[in-house]
Amino acid sequence: MKSIVLIGYMASGKSAVGIVLAEKLNLKFIDLDAYIVSKTGLSIGGIFETKGEIYFRKIESECLLGILEAQSGYILAVGGGTPCYGNNMESINKYAFSVFLKTPLKVLVNRLKAEKQNRPLVSSLSDADLTEFVAKHLFERHPFYEKAQLTIDVKERGITEIINEIAVV
Ligand code: S3P
Repeated sequence: MKSIVLIGYMASGKSAVGIVLAEKLNLKFIDLDAYIVSKTGLSIGGIFETKGEIYFRKIESECLLGILEAQSGYILAVGGGTPCYGNNMESINKYAFSVFLKTPLKVLVNRLKAEKQNRPLVSSLSDADLTEFVAKHLFERHPFYEKAQLTIDVKERGITEIINEIAVV
């Protein structure tokens, strides 16, 4: 059964694309952040605040591996940082087909301005500082995202066009 992992920066559209793609391919949709919240009983913000980012990355890797090893037939949307820590990207490519949603900086920043309160890495940044932070962060993360087996250049494309491209692979 098909198992697809969607990777990409925060607000790149992984969950939005994942939900529609899962419906089209008749697979289950899993959101790694939601899975972590259900396993720990804590919000993502709460984990960062009370236990710190290193702890979050450890739990994130454990939950990821738990899903990859035990399940098949899913669309999994991981966090923006998931591919960039430990052996996560190698594990993803071992167990599933990886797709990188490459979304323009401007789109990411505009979406994050509206949604940053739920994202501990950017929640304290002013709108003015957001562009520089995201540009730098993306530059650092790109080498990990580029290990994906398929890259979708999101640009101005709508969700239907994006899922059609992934569905034929
Ligand atoms: C993170 C992205 C978030 C979440 C956490 C850390 C990151 O997920 O896992 O806040 O390091 O980019 P989304 O990409 O779904 O926002």
